[in-house]
Amino acid sequence: MTIPLIFEWSRDGATGYSLPDSQVPTVNLPEELLRENLALPEVSELEVIRHFVRLSQLNFAIDTTFYPLGSCTMKYNPKVNEEVAAHRGIRRVHPYTPIEKVQGALQVMYELQQALAEIAGMDAVSLQPAAGAHGELTGMLVIRAYLDSIGQTHKTKVIVPDSAHGTNPATAAMAGYQVVTVRSDDRGNVDLEELKRLVDEEVAAMMLTNPNTLGLFDEHIREICEVIHEAGGLMYGDGANMNAIMGIVKPGELGFDVLHFNLHKTFTTPHGGGGPGAGPIAVKDFLAPFLPSPIVTARDTEEGRIYQFQDPPKSIGKVRSLWGNFAVLVRAYTYIMQQGSEGLRSVSEHAILNANYLLSLLRDAYQVPYDRPCMHEFVLSGSKQKRFGVRTLDIAKRLIDYGFHPPTIYFPLIVEECLMIEPTETENKRTLDEFAAAMIKIAEEAEKDPELVKSAPHNAVVRRLDETTAARKPDLVYQQAVE
Ligand SMILES: Cc1ncc(COP(=O)(O)O)c(C=O)c1O
Repeated sequence: MTIPLIFEWSRDGATGYSLPDSQVPTVNLPEELLRENLALPEVSELEVIRHFVRLSQLNFAIDTTFYPLGSCTMKYNPKVNEEVAAHRGIRRVHPYTPIEKVQGALQVMYELQQALAEIAGMDAVSLQPAAGAHGELTGMLVIRAYLDSIGQTHKTKVIVPDSAHGTNPATAAMAGYQVVTVRSDDRGNVDLEELKRLVDEEVAAMMLTNPNTLGLFDEHIREICEVIHEAGGLMYGDGANMNAIMGIVKPGELGFDVLHFNLHKTFTTPHGGGGPGAGPIAVKDFLAPFLPSPIVTARDTEEGRIYQFQDPPKSIGKVRSLWGNFAVLVRAYTYIMQQGSEGLRSVSEHAILNANYLLSLLRDAYQVPYDRPCMHEFVLSGSKQKRFGVRTLDIAKRLIDYGFHPPTIYFPLIVEECLMIEPTETENKRTLDEFAAAMIKIAEEAEKDPELVKSAPHNAVVRRLDETTAARKPDLVYQQAVE
């Protein structure tokens, strides 16, 4: 059934409330606060409810649909996280409450710092950054402060692979560095020979995502770290894909010096709408003095353990107001405590298993640009379908007709007609089979009836939007319909 697209429900005289008679004296508001002809919708309560529930149903959400958005990790957010974050003792903590009265909240933050350090194989953690990209910038500013402190001010370059998420080069540039791009090789690794040619003593750092955005674990990771370290540079790990390696390998042991986490991707906190989120960073001990302030420390006394905020001695300063997005941190903490170390490892193993299973179902219908086992996500190319005039965008739109959110498309840029699929560990075999069946059907349609795919979606409420305008100039404000 298609839901009729009605946005204007207002009818003169309809009301959505009935208030009891006032029991306090009426007061006249100042004239300047009063507006005449205020165009508010006139609707009943039931109409308001139907309007907003329908609007919510017009969108895709992880709670209603499979959402295989590669690199964005749209995995299920367990409701127990919400339950804990909504607990009275957590919800009602005020940021300015004296810290002796909120020791429990500080304990949560301290233990989360410890857990993230352990998972990353690092020594210290800052929970302050509000998103992955913010963590990247914070991490690069820490690197910069450290290099400055040891007189390495001539280091002006940051190496970034051509498969990197766009936030990496943007971050390096924002931190004041010149971005040098290194190619990927035929197996989707960093091209080691080219890296060696590019590295010189001006290299401050390399920003590397491992597994990378092709869903591949770099086979030369140790050599890469050695090449950068030998030149006096530091290894920045984009830990957005930590959900593929938790409990299996620690970036700190591979040779990374700094790592950011995307709590939404790895630890099931909600994702989307630009925040609030959290992108904590973990660092090796020589970088700990430069972390943003404050961090939470613990001191054992005769009365028990006391938690406090502390400014690291050479801190880069504050990167965010107050203490970070506490409610998001609580959700991640809940998830980590619930899983335990065995559970986290099993999360990553299942993410890898699901991705490889789905890849095996799709490999005949679509071109596989890097033919090797993947980690938590994989890329396909729509180049076979392009021969029939069907582009990857068309395939993505047709998936909507089959009730699935499209995967990420045209990223990474190095794969022609790229489809980037991340099933996550939270999906079961039936969902993966249904998705694969839809993808295979679309590949058949592309060959036999290309127009059907090119004109998709057919069942959606709206057809193809100007996505840039929709994102940049969203129409969110109620305006009374003009007769
Ligand atoms: C590899 C990678 N790096 C960085 C980011 C940026 O993270 P955020 O969206 O939290 O800013 C993402 C986002 O998903 C990502 O996939």
